[in-house]
This record gives sequence, structure tokens and C-alpha cells, in this order.
Amino acid sequence: MLAILLVLFSCSKPDQNSADAADTVKIIASMTAIFSSKQAELGLGLYVVNCAACHGRDLRGTEGGGALMGDRFLSKWKEKSMAELFELTKATMPKTNPHSMDDASYAALLAFILEVNEFPSGETELSTSKDELQNIIVGEPESSRVAMQFIPKEADPQSTDY
Ligand code: HEC
Repeated sequence: MLAILLVLFSCSKPDQNSADAADTVKIIASMTAIFSSKQAELGLGLYVVNCAACHGRDLRGTEGGGALMGDRFLSKWKEKSMAELFELTKATMPKTNPHSMDDASYAALLAFILEVNEFPSGETELSTSKDELQNIIVGEPESSRVAMQFIPKEADPQSTDY
């Protein structure tokens, strides 16, 4: 029994494809449209007023707050769920006034952040339901000026590493 647990455990290292590791079907945000561009536009408005002072208008960060786009941000979040990103943002941001907005506003802000990171938008609005967000893994955009030279494993079965 212990041996089986160890095998299972070693199969779910963060480096491996998280979609394979779990038996529930996970949506990958960088490969499926999980937010609408209308929602992202709303997020832009909220971002400029509430977040840009610290994270920069272009999301590249300032001394007051780190970048919310690009390789570093994405490699930090790509294995995690949208629920984690949502909860963290809601619980800690804006830094001087966390929890100050409603869930729809936080969802719009995340939609905007995803859009700037070149995630695809579609018809569906980004959910505010923790259960649904839990099943969405952030992932990394396939081709992006933001995340250069990244090839999703699904698209490149040859690659075991990157
Ligand atoms: C007063 C400055 C300030 C403002 C305003 C602010 N942030 Fe932040 N933000 C930070 C700092 C500093 C961090 C680093 C973590 C910490 O100190 O809590 C951070 C971290 C984050 C993170 C996690 C970044 C990572 O690398 O994982 C996200 C997401 C985020 N902020 C989103 C927002 C959003 C969305 C808004 C607007 C609603 C916002 N922040 C407003 C300063 C700010």
C-alpha cells in the first residue's frame, strides 16, 4: 500500500502535466476560453483605478508590486488553479484595501490579467464559483510575446522537459 502511495505521489510532481495527474477533468485556462473579452474590458477599468499604481499600467510591475504578466508570473501560476489565484487576489488585493470589491469585480480583474498574458477569450464569463475555478488550471499560453519559447506538452508529445 505504501509503495502504491509513493508511486502515486511521485507521479504528481509539480513539473508534470497537472491535467494528467488528476482523475477529474481539468480545464487549462491557456488552452480554453474561460473568460469573455467584455469581462476583461471591465477588468481593465478596475485595474487602472485599483491596481496600476503598484503593478504598472502594463502589468510589468513597479517598486510597489511585482509584474502580473510574463514568464515569471506565469511560471509561478501555471500549475495552480484559478481558484488559488482568485482567493489570493481577493484576500490580499488591493494591498491597502483587500476584499474591497465584489466577486464579479475580482473575476473581471483576473480576466483582464489573463488577457494581457495572451490567454484566449471567448463567450463564457470567468466564473466566481470556487468549485468551478478549482477545476481550471492556469497553464501557459502557447505562443506569446510574453512567455517566449514555451510549447505546451499536449502540443508536443516528444518533449518531456522544457
Ligand atoms: C499598494 C500596492 C498594491 C496595489 C494597489 C495592488 N497590489 Fe497586488 N501586490 C502588491 C504587492 C507588494 C504584492 C506582493 C505580495 C504581497 O505583498 O502581498 C502583490 C501581489 C499581487 C498578486 C500576486 C502576484 C504573484 O506574483 O503571485 C496579484 C495577483 C495581485 N497583486 C493583484 C492585484 C490586483 C488585481 C490589484 C488591484 C485590485 C492589486 N494587486 C493592487 C502590491 C499592490
